[in-house]
Amino acid sequence: MASNSDIPERPAQLRRGDYGAPSTADLRSPCPIVNALANHGYIPRDGRNVRSGEMYAAMAELGASCTVRATLTFGSYYEHHDQLEGGFWDFIRNPLTYVLGPFGLRDVNQRDSEGVKCLNLNQLARHDAVEHDVSLSRRDHAQGDNCTSQKDLVATIVSSSTDSRYVSTTDFAALRVHRLQQQKQDNPSLNVGRTHLLTTSGQVAFLQTLFGGGFPRYRVPVSYMKALFEEERLPVREGWSKRVWISVGFLESLIQTQVLRRCIKRILRDEGLEYPR
Ligand code: HEM
Repeated sequence: MASNSDIPERPAQLRRGDYGAPSTADLRSPCPIVNALANHGYIPRDGRNVRSGEMYAAMAELGASCTVRATLTFGSYYEHHDQLEGGFWDFIRNPLTYVLGPFGLRDVNQRDSEGVKCLNLNQLARHDAVEHDVSLSRRDHAQGDNCTSQKDLVATIVSSSTDSRYVSTTDFAALRVHRLQQQKQDNPSLNVGRTHLLTTSGQVAFLQTLFGGGFPRYRVPVSYMKALFEEERLPVREGWSKRVWISVGFLESLIQTQVLRRCIKRILRDEGLEYPR
């Protein structure tokens, strides 16, 4: 696990877009991409009181479409409510909270000093809201720290490329299967199922569509993966720039999610395994 002393102090004069590793006082999340947005100053570098408008605008720097940005922001800035008890009547009284409450990340009434909805980045680690077991770069909640990037897991991610140049859809799928098998051994209270397969595939597919060089292969260069996961930095120096001809939308990411999901299932089947239900 990375200790605070591994993290350098952030230089004082950084402009929006400049990369700076976080200081020991900054808050970070289990999401490498959101952390990269903070490390480039597209959202507050200290990771505190991040406004929903700031998160929405920052995701434009990745080339994500307005609809994707609005949906991700609206969902994650929803107030968190654990599963409501009243069933049917709760649903009738407040259908949106009934559906979105368990996935929301914001505390009830959490706003900044000017009354604007905000989040601290470490709140993204709220377990079983969006954060789930079997991440690629983080350990599970039951193992004690589900937020900090783990050097050994990141090393496995960057070495997952079979041709040493690109991480392909098949490489990503094999990596997910490997992590699943690893966590089955390491975490006796593992919590995975069909929704898990969908969410984890969706996260990786979204990464592939933003950084993977376009339809239909979405191969992410190993150098980009190193920047994103080792330093939580956008791979601009390595040659990446956000897509401008058309932003990355839901349909494209959903299609790639399906492709990845099928590939994961095929690898499991070939190995005589099944995705846990
Ligand atoms: C904008 C583009 C985004 C991309 C491409 C992206 C991609 C990813 C990826 C690939 C992971 C998995 C990391 C791993 O398994 O180690 C992840 C994790 C996560 N992301 Fe994002 N993300 C994005 C935005 C967001 C936003 C806006 C939020 C919420 C504010 C968010 C919340 C999370 C959380 C909570 C996790 C942890 C899930 C886990 O347990 O692994 N992400 N994201």
